[in-house]
Amino acid sequence: MTAFDFAPLLATGLPPPGVRWNGFAKYNFIGGHNDPDNVPVDQLVAAANDVLKREGKSLATYGLASGPQGYRPLREFLAQKLKRTAGVSCTVDEILITSGSLQSLNLVNGILLNRGDTVIIEQESYQGSLSRLQRLGVNAVGIPLDGDGMRMDALAAALDDLKRRAIRPKYIYTIPTVQNPTGTILPEARRYDMLRLAQAHGVPIFEDDCYADLIWDGRRPPALHAMSQHGGVIHIGSFSKSIVPALRVGYIVAEWELLSRMLALKTDAGSGALEQMVLGEYCPAHFDTHVPELTRGLRKKLETLMDALNEQFGTAAEFDDPKGGIFLWVKFPDAVDTQKLFAPALAAGVAINPGPEWTTDKAYGKSRTRLCFANPSPEAIRAGVATLAEVCRREFGVPNRIANVEQRARA
Ligand SMILES: Cc1ncc(COP(=O)(O)O)c(C=O)c1O
Repeated sequence: MTAFDFAPLLATGLPPPGVRWNGFAKYNFIGGHNDPDNVPVDQLVAAANDVLKREGKSLATYGLASGPQGYRPLREFLAQKLKRTAGVSCTVDEILITSGSLQSLNLVNGILLNRGDTVIIEQESYQGSLSRLQRLGVNAVGIPLDGDGMRMDALAAALDDLKRRAIRPKYIYTIPTVQNPTGTILPEARRYDMLRLAQAHGVPIFEDDCYADLIWDGRRPPALHAMSQHGGVIHIGSFSKSIVPALRVGYIVAEWELLSRMLALKTDAGSGALEQMVLGEYCPAHFDTHVPELTRGLRKKLETLMDALNEQFGTAAEFDDPKGGIFLWVKFPDAVDTQKLFAPALAAGVAINPGPEWTTDKAYGKSRTRLCFANPSPEAIRAGVATLAEVCRREFGVPNRIANVEQRARA
């Protein structure tokens, strides 16, 4: 019997098929995974137990007893936490819980973007945001960054240029607080400048703040949402980086006028209830002690990674010490093409994110890579970087010295 052929029935315009998962690489520097040693397992177990015993019967209804915007105690926690840490003033009715902030990206894009639209975005940015824009047929204008995040002179020039061409961008997308992948933080003064420019040009700001809790010194500027005098800022965040990504809990903060449009697009009848209940129980008691512990562990792993790169690559790996987060954005010599390095590195057990996927300017990203240091152990970080250096030297002739040993002399 021949198998049923679905191919001629598939909808048009589908993205390329997903790839089958073959397990994680031995040295896993990709994605935004978290630190397994800092998952608060016992406290999550206790929270699940307590909340289910107390409120488990509410699982009988879609949306628990909280409605489609998400578990109310979790929204209450968020409203007070965002006020305390980021200065955001919002009510629980201005928060929508989503299935990870990836769903937040989809919902915001869903209510604002049409094919052919233009948005402004940091030149180096989150691959998940860039690929969504590409799939939607939206023109993403990249603004260069420096050590303090998006450059306001370049933003002003881009806005002026678009205005001259009668193009009104749909939003300015920014990851201002521990940027992905550069790890920069936009200072308060620049935030004022961005708000002023956005207001002058009638363009909203789309603020993605999912790394904002993971700052080494714990100090952050107020959120753009908090600083705006005129509204016009949509703020999204996530528990993926501060707790764990597999729970898939994110959120959107926006006025009801916008949230109500997003709710109409959120057709999953509510995000998973159990994970929201567990977080709603866990966070008020433990979030503030958990996050500094997690952050200390991440900082140590970052130092291990920077040491390993210095030892194995020497001056062939350039990077700035990020202000927080889980990524190091690394520049190799121009001869290195990280998209070509990807396959042989993976064959040797090292998974890296090639730079071109994280930037609007593919040539700029060619010899860059993003390394996530949160998931591998310190031993795996050291061994993985040593292996990467071997592969990189074999493929591109750099680094010439590994672990301070001249390679030709050794060969
Ligand atoms: C900037 C940014 N936004 C959104 C996300 C999506 O995260 P999640 O859907 O797990 O909340 C990520 C994940 O890495 C990210 O880096």
